Amino acid sequence: MWFWPFTREKTYKEAGLLNGMTDWHTHILPGVDDGVANMDDAVKTLKQYSHMDIREVWLTPHINVDMPNETDVLRKRFDELQQVYQNFEHSSEHHLVKIHLGGEYMLDSLLLERLCKRDILTLGDDTHLLLQLGIANQPEKLFDKIREIQNVGYVPLLAHPERYLYMSRSDYHTLRKDMGVEFQLNLPSLVGLYGPEAMRRAKMLLEAGYYTYVGSDLHNLHKFYAAITEYKISTKHIELLREIVDSTAK
Ligand SMILES: [Fe+2]
Repeated sequence: MWFWPFTREKTYKEAGLLNGMTDWHTHILPGVDDGVANMDDAVKTLKQYSHMDIREVWLTPHINVDMPNETDVLRKRFDELQQVYQNFEHSSEHHLVKIHLGGEYMLDSLLLERLCKRDILTLGDDTHLLLQLGIANQPEKLFDKIREIQNVGYVPLLAHPERYLYMSRSDYHTLRKDMGVEFQLNLPSLVGLYGPEAMRRAKMLLEAGYYTYVGSDLHNLHKFYAAITEYKISTKHIELLREIVDSTAK
């Protein structure tokens, strides 16, 4: 039997997409949300990031009415992690992953309070606000609320829009093209880890050129590692992702 020797599909890892990448959305800051639980696991996760050649990571803990993480508490926790990680990795031959603190804000009443006080942990250039919406239903007055965020001076970066199955194609267009909201792809979406419909939407939004950032949304290292090593993506999608990864890497 003949086998075509050149496969047109590769895993994220085989495609080298992680090399030098910045991961813009993770739950590695330990013990503050439903992500990594303790300092040891956070350090192990960062060590694995170093092995994967990911260079920079934004730690974006949930901030919402159910997890009302205070900014100063998160900063303190971040400083502790930074200290432990640097001491741990000091003698290793691997590079130190550069870590940054941001937040993943749910569009709820707590966000409005924090906006009034300008008490926001931003990403990148001090203007991007990683924004999460509920998965089940479209928030009331979504577009008005997003305009409020913009009026205060922040650029909403919408986390995993492919997971909001209530959104129409025209909603995506309005947000991205008319309102200037930026979109962040969850890498596991593209290989189907949130189901076939989120995968279909991820492909559609990627092909439309709507994504400007990528992230793992890592809560658990094993699931992310499976996403990047066990599932293949097409050459076309690899090339589109490479452009985004390169443009957002430091
Ligand atoms: Fe998240």
